[in-house]
Amino acid sequence: MITIDKSCFVLETERTAYAFAITAQGLPRHLYYGPKLPDYSALPIPQATVGGAAFIEGDQPESMAQECSAPGWGDSAPYMVSLVLPDGGTACSFRYVHCERSDQVPQGLPHAQGGETLKIVLKEQSWDVYLELYYTAVEDAIVRWCRVVNDCGEAIRVRRLLSAQLDLPRGDYRLTTYRGAWAREMTPLTQPLHGALVWDSSFGISSSRCNTLAVVSHADANEHEGSVWCTNLLYSGGHYGCAHESPFGRVRLVQGMADLDWLLPAGEHFDSPQAALFYASDGFAGARQAMHRFVERALIAPAWQQAPRPIVVNSWESLYFRLSRAKLLQLGKEAAAIGAEVLVVDDGWFIGRKDDKRALGDWTEDEKKLPGGFPRLQADLKKLGIDLGVWVEPEMVSEESNLFRAHGDWILGHRNQAMGRNQFVLDLGRTEVQNHVYESVARILRSADIRYIKWDMNRCLTDTFSPALPASRQGEIAHRYVLGLYQVCRRLTEDFPHVLFEGCASGGNRPDWGMLCYFPQFWCSDDTDAEARSHIQSGYYAAYPPSTLSCHVSACPNHQTLRTTPLHSRFHLSCFGLLGYELDLTALTREEKAAVREQIALYKAHRPLFQFGQFHATLATGNELFWMLTTGQEAVGVHYVRHPQPNALPTVLHAAGLEGGASYTVRSVPQAVKLEQFGSLVNMLSPVHLRQGSALHALAGKVVRFEEKPLALTASGESLMAAGFPQVSRFNGAAFEEGMAAMGDWDSRLYWFEKV
Ligand code: DGJ
Repeated sequence: MITIDKSCFVLETERTAYAFAITAQGLPRHLYYGPKLPDYSALPIPQATVGGAAFIEGDQPESMAQECSAPGWGDSAPYMVSLVLPDGGTACSFRYVHCERSDQVPQGLPHAQGGETLKIVLKEQSWDVYLELYYTAVEDAIVRWCRVVNDCGEAIRVRRLLSAQLDLPRGDYRLTTYRGAWAREMTPLTQPLHGALVWDSSFGISSSRCNTLAVVSHADANEHEGSVWCTNLLYSGGHYGCAHESPFGRVRLVQGMADLDWLLPAGEHFDSPQAALFYASDGFAGARQAMHRFVERALIAPAWQQAPRPIVVNSWESLYFRLSRAKLLQLGKEAAAIGAEVLVVDDGWFIGRKDDKRALGDWTEDEKKLPGGFPRLQADLKKLGIDLGVWVEPEMVSEESNLFRAHGDWILGHRNQAMGRNQFVLDLGRTEVQNHVYESVARILRSADIRYIKWDMNRCLTDTFSPALPASRQGEIAHRYVLGLYQVCRRLTEDFPHVLFEGCASGGNRPDWGMLCYFPQFWCSDDTDAEARSHIQSGYYAAYPPSTLSCHVSACPNHQTLRTTPLHSRFHLSCFGLLGYELDLTALTREEKAAVREQIALYKAHRPLFQFGQFHATLATGNELFWMLTTGQEAVGVHYVRHPQPNALPTVLHAAGLEGGASYTVRSVPQAVKLEQFGSLVNMLSPVHLRQGSALHALAGKVVRFEEKPLALTASGESLMAAGFPQVSRFNGAAFEEGMAAMGDWDSRLYWFEKV
């Protein structure tokens, strides 16, 4: 709900309220962002005249909480808007003109769906240049963006147009940002919020180096209690965010796209992307849930919001570039046998693509590898009951390609530039390039009944130069690239609504909320090692619900870490998202195939829970985690232990998201206890000596089988959440009893909760 009154504008969401007012000088003053209140008439204004600061008539910007800021008028904190006015001046002071309700969204950019929008129009003091601030109350978020309108009759330049500013009162805060690199995305970094802390990407993509998400928490906030504010951006290019503590203790957050230099001719306007702000009084869990709901209901396209996602088998980690029709059909047969639903033909299928040095841009099937191309492969897979998915990387071109030979001038940047994965980026700011990229993908989709596209992007933008624009406009290129990308994504998803697009950029190099408005899910990391994924997925869950995270079970030793983890742990972590398999199924033992078949059957039987259940994390120590997914009727938890401690008591696990008054049965899913797991320890009991690894040891392993006794109990939701329940009884080095679980490194158990 939005209450419009110049003396106090209030935007209310389900649980929060955001309030600001206009000062006598016409400056929008921020008042409040916190829990909903019964009234907003007496919100505090913690302001005093401070020494040594500049004044705008009666207002003193440096000591005042504001809704937007610009340089040159006495505010020392990072500003939201920076323009170069026709006389070359950069000092801007925007004053209130009027407000209205609006249904405007930023042009050519992704945006949240639904909600109510308030538009505040401000005018620069001396020039007919307007700044429009947009606020949408949607789900439990306040979505902000702004527009600069140039009515001054001469061109101006936009150097910075961020999406949101949030000025918080003095307090003891922490800032958490999510950093990383290829194969180790989304590592949280929590710092005391002092001085100026920046989270940004200058790579032209939202990037794995630093995610767009930032979380500010009160020092005493924890998983379930305390105040937490978050900001996240709906943008896929370079970005900038800063949390700044003023000399007076006030904290300012600003966030938006990276600085640019955009020539704005008279009569035109320029829009920022949207940023979404969140507040939760119930700690990190509350903020996470608000963000998950927002993504699922306001960002994902309606047709995909509740659409069950298929279980895929992807060819990459089994065949790499060495794929062929015969091998793919073999994989397809195995995929059908285990119950998978889509076979994704990853990189390597197009003409000339024998390695990653060539052929990007030539999107025609290699007849030698794929005789009859996709139409024939799709028809054959269909007979097996499997759909076809295809990998593409259409934003790129290799130097050794027909496309480059024909259109070498379509690349972004100069010929001599820092390269990534031996490839150039196509200049998507140009209409002819956008059309070409659209056609390349549309042609593949028209050629056969393809249900799934994995859209890859394997390098960052370095030299953002385009010969298509004059020197004076080169500062626009990086943003034009992103606008061009969105244009292509919009056209393709509108024209092929039945196709599920999965975003990918060397894994999680562009996993932002902007892309999610077009592609409802993404491949969140090239690192498929279960242990690595336990960290990477934990990071993503801060702002990305499981229904957006594509997670695959892969081979061991793992191809990124060479680590060997149990097959069931790989599944347990992957099923807290969109399950897939990315390994040579033909190489699995009979026992492994049976296990995988069971995994898929279990996942299918509870697909809505695994994909759309509400996510909770009630345990996250360095050594253990406990995640849960809940719907009204059922719930599942995974307890994952990195290194089990000897001689330790069982961990008490706490449920979350259950109905307090309802009764639940809790049951663990037992795993096979193999004699081999005990190594030479078996000789304590064996009548004959079993040399570890010997044929006799293996034979004994086949004959002697222990059954793990599942944990089974019934308790109220309240008790399971407050008092918890013990993990399954496990061997801890002290004594062995029949029925104990044998848990080694990187081991896990699933727990099912059913209402009785
Ligand atoms: C990077 C992706 O993240 C991988 O999954 C795979 O598709 C390769 N590219 C193919 O080149």
